[in-house]
Amino acid sequence: MKSRRALALGLLTLLAILLMAGCADPRPIAHLTAPTPIPLKAEPTATLLPVLVEAQEAAKAAAQAPAGEEALPVPPQRPSAEDGAMAFAQNCVVCHGEDGKGVIPDTPDFTAPDLFRERAPAELFLSVSKGKGTMPPWESSLDEQTRWNVVFYALDFAVSEEALQRGKDVYTTHCVVCHGEDGKGLLEDTPDFTSPEFVATTRLVDLFQSVTDGKGTMPPWKGQLTEEDRWAVLTFIRTMGYDSLHK
Ligand code: HEC
Ligand code: HEC
Repeated sequence: MKSRRALALGLLTLLAILLMAGCADPRPIAHLTAPTPIPLKAEPTATLLPVLVEAQEAAKAAAQAPAGEEALPVPPQRPSAEDGAMAFAQNCVVCHGEDGKGVIPDTPDFTAPDLFRERAPAELFLSVSKGKGTMPPWESSLDEQTRWNVVFYALDFAVSEEALQRGKDVYTTHCVVCHGEDGKGLLEDTPDFTSPEFVATTRLVDLFQSVTDGKGTMPPWKGQLTEEDRWAVLTFIRTMGYDSLHK
């Protein structure tokens, strides 16, 4: 409302300026009589409304989706850590090491869980594709699916067989009833854990929050599962979306 009034005021001011400019110039006086102000007054509402509605919808969408989510890329196919092994050995080991712990300054330790909990795989895919810091971009030397596979090969370093087994047990006991044995979901709202979109664009820290506090019709699990069990089950859920070397 406020901005509509501001615009109307602005238009009136503009009109006044035009009128004054018109007065200085003797020629257009004839055009300055009655008809002009009326359509102009009515116009702002008509042209401004769609703009306002659009802006409101954009603001609503931005409030719903975490920043940047819509722009995150999705793998063409299910990522495979195994298929990324060769590309990792040939292109990445020189800086990240065979064990993924990093051999040059600034390289993150791939065996520590933090990086892969806090960032969506798609965000790491973008870093690998475009380059980051002293890491060169790979988008011209590795094809799209290979870049996804090698990112999942990297994040597979942080997956331990022990956590995976524990996560599987938790999942079978507490989650199967709604999410299904295969993770595709049995209820209307349950996400498909096996879809490339889910595995690539979600951040484990966000999922941890949902599992801890509940989301929609899903109950909170903080009272029933330890923090370690909640992380373990999320590790297991993520491996439903790609081929892990630990399974
Ligand atoms: C020349 C050395 C070098 C090579 C080769 C290299 N990296 Fe990196 N990589 C780095 C450095 C340095 C960083 C840390 C960048 C930063 O945070 O400033 C990094 C960061 C990363 C990250 C974390 C990105 C992020 O957004 O935090 C991933 C994932 C990664 N590299 C994967 C790969 C993969 C996969 C390959 C092979 C295709 C590769 N790297 C090859 C040096 C390298
Ligand atoms: C009673 C049914 C039910 C059970 C049991 C259940 N969930 Fe869910 N879960 C849901 C529903 C419904 C959603 C979708 C919520 C939404 O988006 O509104 C969901 C969503 C999720 C999500 C996605 C959250 C997000 O932020 O997108 C994760 C991860 C998840 N569940 C994990 C688990 C785990 C782990 C367990 C077992 C410990 C579990 N769920 C048990 C019903 C259930």
